[in-house]
Amino acid sequence: MTLPHAWFITCRSRDLSDRPLGVVLQGAPVVLFRGADGRPAALEDRCPHRNAPLSAGRMRGGELECGYHGWRFDARGACVAVPGLAHQPARPARAPAFACVEQDGYVWTYATADADPRGAPFRFPHLGDAGYTAVRREFTVRASLRAALENVLDVPHTAFLHGGLFRTRAARADVEVVVRRRVDRCEAEFIGEPRPQGLAARLLAPRGGVVTHVDRFLLPSIAQVEYRIGDASHLVATTAVTPQGDGLLRLFSVVTFRLPVPGWLVAPVASPLASRILAQDARMLALQAENVARFGGERFANTELDVLGPQIARLLEAAERGGELAAADRLEHEHRVRMRL
Ligand code: FES
Repeated sequence: MTLPHAWFITCRSRDLSDRPLGVVLQGAPVVLFRGADGRPAALEDRCPHRNAPLSAGRMRGGELECGYHGWRFDARGACVAVPGLAHQPARPARAPAFACVEQDGYVWTYATADADPRGAPFRFPHLGDAGYTAVRREFTVRASLRAALENVLDVPHTAFLHGGLFRTRAARADVEVVVRRRVDRCEAEFIGEPRPQGLAARLLAPRGGVVTHVDRFLLPSIAQVEYRIGDASHLVATTAVTPQGDGLLRLFSVVTFRLPVPGWLVAPVASPLASRILAQDARMLALQAENVARFGGERFANTELDVLGPQIARLLEAAERGGELAAADRLEHEHRVRMRL
């Protein structure tokens, strides 16, 4: 699956220093570097002269110099110098350039070279807000984009794959779920959910309280889980997924939270729990991907519990076509289901 009109995180700001950085975005090799003004730039990672990877070159005063014959490129991909040539060509060669933006500590790159971006990159909520703590993590998983996004937002698996860490198999309550789909997103709002009994949930809200819980998918590849527990606890876990190619995804996770206890006190305990949950998910996603490959394709059997998976698939398919939802799908959609959590 390739999404042509989408912004993706290609690296953290701190990963981009004074050397070019080669990355892969949806199977396309891209070189990132900082231009003369310090802003990030992204070019096709192939020198137009003889196909050498530009990421193997070096920086010269804000210009990227190819390591083979020394052609130099500016942030827009224009070749600005050819060593040894007496007269620079009137129509210099250029490398295709991707729109690139630095925001929230990440470098975002547009999926299509030499294209005017539709819209702006996603903004992570509550970064820098008073009273909120932010925890960032990055990890790589082997999975399809759809499978990874659904995994982040899938509630029923938490009582099994992560049994005891967030939810438990035993403690279950009837919950009403409102499922909404819009042109660029879908979400599931869980109503009447008691605070989960698992270790992580107890840590987040030791005194319990009424839970407001919304899981969201935002095109092209943002999965967001939002919890409010009682008046004092608010947590938003946002995962921006970048398809690298060859079945590998890079996940950039930002958790912003406000709790009744100081964030610095919670983070050292919550971090190992989050690592355990992520490792369990990564293992299952890799097993899923291997099995899909063994059988030569995917097959799905949905029930009412699979509230967001089919909606995510529909939105991704429309985004892959480069447009909006088909007319029959475009109507805003809402339905309610009941489940035992
Ligand atoms: Fe890059 Fe020749 S291949 S300058």
